[in-house]
Amino acid sequence: MLYTNYAEYNLDTLTLTNKKQTSDDRLLQSRLGEEGRIPRHIAVIMDGNGRWAKSRGNIRLFGHKAGVDSVRDITEACAQLGVEYLTLYAFSTENWGRPMDEVTGLMQLLVQSLRNETRKLNDNDIRLLTIGQLERFPESCQRELREAIDLTRDNKRMNLCLALSYSGRWDITQAVRKLAVQVKQGKINPEDISDDLITSELVTADIPDPDLIIRTSGEFRISNFLLWQLAYSELYITNTYWPDFRRNELYEAIRSYQKRERRFGKTSEQVST
Ligand code: FPP
Repeated sequence: MLYTNYAEYNLDTLTLTNKKQTSDDRLLQSRLGEEGRIPRHIAVIMDGNGRWAKSRGNIRLFGHKAGVDSVRDITEACAQLGVEYLTLYAFSTENWGRPMDEVTGLMQLLVQSLRNETRKLNDNDIRLLTIGQLERFPESCQRELREAIDLTRDNKRMNLCLALSYSGRWDITQAVRKLAVQVKQGKINPEDISDDLITSELVTADIPDPDLIIRTSGEFRISNFLLWQLAYSELYITNTYWPDFRRNELYEAIRSYQKRERRFGKTSEQVST
């Protein structure tokens, strides 16, 4: 069905797939685990929803809705693979500048997705957390998020981190501001400010840096995502639009990651010994 305006678009039409894992997929996952290291933290810039919808003659929200199916598939696959942290760039600080009906539609989609998926997240021992300025979100949205975070707080299998009203520059700015206050109060000296101290004031203080950053839709940009944290992340960029990005391409991204030599500024000889 084609939707040409937001008013006639009904988010309740969300279709849950909840497919059972096939034995072929289980085999692919176990091979991937044997072939190399599974990234501890994968972060994703989910891009191309609008173009995916446009190429089908539909409104942008149709693409965001289809993107939720990819979120579900990638979350499930990461948990099955033993990824510890999956961070999804779901709404950037800059996204507030989009047309109001798209912003409202995205908020509704988020609330709807949380209602549909939180129990399943919990049943799968997945902990939900967020990074970003949640206080900018409508109260109903904040409440839904708080409930999902509370319900899943003790889960251990995987951490699903949603970056919401997040940007890397905002994160660094708020960290620097907190350190400036500590200097002003005489709690620390300017020379105490170190890499580790800045890291400890970022909203990701308790989260390891991403090992692998995936960006869909073929753009070679970071778009203000995890700017401090990505210093030594491996990048994987694919032309696939986010609604078409499913677990088989995730495996491709991980295979590419497994072939890289991570040197962290050292020489090849140093890291191979
Ligand atoms: C970028 O595509 C995508 C977004 C700004 C929103 C991503 C949101 C979802 C996938 C749905 C909700 C998420 C969760 C976690 C339930 P774009 O709109 O910039 O696409 P374009 O570049 O083709 O215009």
